Amino acid sequence: MLPMGMKIGFFDSGIGGLTVLKNVMKNFGNHQYFYLADNLNVPYGSKPISFLKENLEKIMYFYNLLHVDVLISACNTTDSIVLKNNIALNNYDFVYVSIIKNGIKSIKKEDSVLLLGTENTIKLGVYKNLLFEKGIKKFDELACPLFVPLIEEGYWYGQMADSILRFYLRDFRAKYDKVLLGCTHYPILEEQIERYTEALTIDPSDGIVDFLNEEIKVEKRIGSLSVNYYITGNIEKFKYLSKLFMKDISYVPNFKKIDLNKLYEKQSILFTK
Ligand code: DGL
Repeated sequence: MLPMGMKIGFFDSGIGGLTVLKNVMKNFGNHQYFYLADNLNVPYGSKPISFLKENLEKIMYFYNLLHVDVLISACNTTDSIVLKNNIALNNYDFVYVSIIKNGIKSIKKEDSVLLLGTENTIKLGVYKNLLFEKGIKKFDELACPLFVPLIEEGYWYGQMADSILRFYLRDFRAKYDKVLLGCTHYPILEEQIERYTEALTIDPSDGIVDFLNEEIKVEKRIGSLSVNYYITGNIEKFKYLSKLFMKDISYVPNFKKIDLNKLYEKQSILFTK
């Protein structure tokens, strides 16, 4: 194995992908972690697909420059775009890990499933198609566009969160066995979603952990932890929210602002401390 561990990259529109990063860090320990938070463009869920596709190509170009071994899609919206075959993954040197494909592995055809996701994820229908291929009979889906702004503003509990959760989930109490959290932001509301739906929640990041373990054979390493964060928008807000969400993990975060539109001209300064 590599002396420094693997180089593992993550990306999302904001703090949602931290639910994936934290799960991976807890399971595999000391590797080289990179996380790109594109909070300049949050939310992805309601942006035009053409814009998101172009933007995703910049993120992939960035991670290719960083020479990551593995790039984990910590975003279901962009993964839906990738799986719709709009992105040429063979242009890149890393192994791309899909959250959607791995996230549904634990779902069986007898399960009744409610999918929650962004407007784009629901519209692109990748989850739905893959679940129907599995033979799922009872399935419903719901876009919850207010969840991401709520979470990015730090309202994870309290009256505001409760009224939005009630608004979306009022008709879904005790109707499905499983609720698939089809947006990486949603596990931040997991306890409340379980309470409102009386269903078992599925966090797709668990499927990613299994894939890294079984297919990529990522080593479980001991030693100190650190993450290099790259932020496209409000860095102070991201620092504050990431500190809050990652408070149960002991690690050293490094924050750096980047501009996805200047990657080509600024390659040399991008990687200086
Ligand atoms: N967390 C992302 C996802 O899984 C993006 C959410 C958003 O920015 O709308 O879809």
